[in-house]
Amino acid sequence: MPRKYFLRTFGCQMNEHDSERIAGLLEADGLEATDSLADADVVVLNTCCIRENADNKLYGTLGHLKSWKASRPGAEIVVGGCLAQKDGGRVRERAPYVDVVFGTHNVHRAADLLTRSRRDGPVTEVLEATVAEDHELFPSALPRRRRHGHAAWVTIQVGCDNACAFCIVPAVRGPELSRPTGDIVEEVEALAAEGVVEVTLLGQNVNSYGRDLTRRQRHRGQGQRVRPLFAELLAAVSGVEGVRRVRFTSPHPKDLRPEVIEAMATTPEVCDHLHLPLQSGSDRILAAMHRGYTAERYLQRLADARSAVPDLAVTTDIIVGFPGETDDDFGQTLAVAATASYDSAYPFIYSPREGTEAAALSDRFVPADVVAERFQRLRVVLERSALAKHQARVGRVEEALVEGPSKKNPDRIQARTGQNKVVHFAAPDRSVRAGSFVDVAITSAAPHHLRGKLVQVTAPPRRRTRIPVVAG
Ligand code: SAH
Ligand code: SF4
Ligand code: F3S
Repeated sequence: MPRKYFLRTFGCQMNEHDSERIAGLLEADGLEATDSLADADVVVLNTCCIRENADNKLYGTLGHLKSWKASRPGAEIVVGGCLAQKDGGRVRERAPYVDVVFGTHNVHRAADLLTRSRRDGPVTEVLEATVAEDHELFPSALPRRRRHGHAAWVTIQVGCDNACAFCIVPAVRGPELSRPTGDIVEEVEALAAEGVVEVTLLGQNVNSYGRDLTRRQRHRGQGQRVRPLFAELLAAVSGVEGVRRVRFTSPHPKDLRPEVIEAMATTPEVCDHLHLPLQSGSDRILAAMHRGYTAERYLQRLADARSAVPDLAVTTDIIVGFPGETDDDFGQTLAVAATASYDSAYPFIYSPREGTEAAALSDRFVPADVVAERFQRLRVVLERSALAKHQARVGRVEEALVEGPSKKNPDRIQARTGQNKVVHFAAPDRSVRAGSFVDVAITSAAPHHLRGKLVQVTAPPRRRTRIPVVAG
């Protein structure tokens, strides 16, 4: 009987996407996926360390897995991802029963390391910098197991060259490296041939896509520049036959160029959704964070984007309680959030991450009770605007892409509108399959989703146009 693996992913979409590669590598090695821990022989945890509670979650989960492993002869535990990159050897110090630890620079080694640990005993392989070849660094040439047949993530860039004072990502993901445009388009073509209709381009700072390629070209003396701007990439990916929706995350407000806004406005495939992380509404705090924009500049860019793309949905991330944040600073965050009137937002409580610039400002940490109170006040503002934005959709007919049965009520279908809003509706029969485009009349709204009535199926799931080549 094939051995089974249970894979749990923490953190962001980059990690979700890495997990698809890890799953693909394990399956190429003969393992089978299982959703049940009780059936698993191998547990893989792909970890995140963006905030302290992410760390706690991992070590909590590992604590539970100790008895799981003890009760199952031959069982193995693998820990990969950002926290593994950050903690390295400390993972096995805290949980010596872990078999394999690998970091963000050697995801492509997941299956090999597991084989090695079976032969030679526990192994920790965390690299300081990436040593992967381009085709291993960017996942297209690796086998992978995608969650949906109709939608796919495509990495366009790894790492980050910014230095936001609160953020651990540059330390755990390394410097920014862009993937050549031709390789990205090739991957999207291959995905489209497999029936994918929606792609999400992934990077920590997608608007700076290509900056390093330009630098490398100059270095090689290859003429002035053919700068593969993100705007050009959007157009190229949108032009791939079969691709009906293009999304991207995350753009950095300081690098959101007019060309990108224009590409969003003029390319019908690019969805009407912009995730534009604000972080703070106070110029003083934004400067301390090294975000590279002021509140006014942020709001101006947002206004430009909204006037170019009239039906644009905007979402954001905001940090509450950055060191030194005063009542007045926080008041400005509330005011900017209210002005921006977001469709949805992720507020976070500031969490010190060792080694980051802000973590050294411990004398200016905001007391926990003050932060908790601010956080609640911000949530009220954000929920109010999300509800208003969702209510404004009631009465409209929206095109949505079906994801499958809704998680809470399997008699209902869950789909996603171009604005990235989840809509639930009743399914009359089984013809409404994942990957179908449908028209839904929106009947009611909540802060985090819409409800509607199916009007018609406008396009069934796309069939594969060719048998995909399984790369490896
Ligand atoms: N590259 C993305 C952000 C990736 S991290 C960008 O720049 O937009 C996702 C979000 O986590 C950030 O936008 C920020 O709001 C939040 N975050 C990052 N570090 C944090 C910390 N130390 N404490 C609290 N929130 C944090
Ligand atoms: Fe972190 Fe800033 Fe880079 Fe985003 S842009 S990953 S917040 S350092
Ligand atoms: Fe993502 Fe968490 Fe790493 S947010 S990049 S998985 S630290």
